Amino acid sequence: MQALPCRVTAINPCKKQTANPVSAHRIVFANEKGGTGKSTTAVHVAVALAYQGARVAAIDLDQRQRTLYRYLENRAETERRRGIALPGARFAVFEGPDIADLDALCAEISDGYDFLIIDTPGRNDEFALHAATCSDTLVTPLNDSFVDFDLIGQVEGETFRVKKLSFYAETIWEARKKRARATIEEQRRELDWVVVRNRLQHVEARNMRRLDGALKELSQRVGFRVASGLSERVIYRELFPSGLTLLDKGQLGELGTSHLVARQELRSLLAGLNLPKLAGTPLEAALAIQ
Ligand SMILES: Nc1ncnc2c1ncn2[C@@H]1O[C@H](COP(=O)(O)OP(=O)(O)OP(=O)(O)O)[C@@H](O)[C@H]1O
Ligand SMILES: [Mg+2]
Repeated sequence: MQALPCRVTAINPCKKQTANPVSAHRIVFANEKGGTGKSTTAVHVAVALAYQGARVAAIDLDQRQRTLYRYLENRAETERRRGIALPGARFAVFEGPDIADLDALCAEISDGYDFLIIDTPGRNDEFALHAATCSDTLVTPLNDSFVDFDLIGQVEGETFRVKKLSFYAETIWEARKKRARATIEEQRRELDWVVVRNRLQHVEARNMRRLDGALKELSQRVGFRVASGLSERVIYRELFPSGLTLLDKGQLGELGTSHLVARQELRSLLAGLNLPKLAGTPLEAALAIQ
């Protein structure tokens, strides 16, 4: 795995002039709500794709927390310490100062790569919005709570029917319209917006059903798809210091059967994202051998 220098000043400035120099499939993890599992999911998706044989690059837009960057740094450190090579990603933190620099970093880091994963901060951020607008797959993790749901739509207090789109949903709606023009002019793929139900705890069936209904209603109005994400599991919090993921089976020691279920969830998530297939190994086969 390779970390790029954090600053982008060394990049050839002529790359900034190119309309769409990124050919890698861009997967952007974004939600203005903090703590929904963007970074954790982004790392697991990056590593899953790398296990599949994909060349994966990753950018962390959260200059302060740097969770994705730190996770992958820890992974590189584990590789050094244990003298092993693990599938992973080339990674960098974006530190500004402007959109052109972000475009340049995206182009540089993903040159010759299959996927570019971008993790964004859980707040309103101009770079995150730009990344979302340019994404091929926009992943919005959402916890099973109407507090989280409020970030994409407001529901009526008695019926839980959607009464209003949130500012964020409106913003992504606008971004998709802008992107539709690029789809025609620059022959880009259409933006696929996937709301991922994350950190699920299968104990609150009524709340889950109400959210199901609200998400279905909103998805038809705003045009996103809903996919299932990761359950709430302690192991996701424990893996960060080693940079390991649930897929690094040989490195994790003895794990109980619940982790087999967790790996299955990850497989379902990847299938739900409906990413372009790489020539050669199908994703299911690649993950099944882990
Ligand atoms: N599936 C999960 N099960 C249990 N804990 C989780 C899970 N996903 C994430 N966490 C934990 O929840 C916290 C927030 O996760 P994470 O940093 O991935 O969210 P985020 O959306 O990137 O947050 P931010 O908006 O602050 O960047 C972390 O402590 C992480 O370890
Ligand atoms: Mg994060």
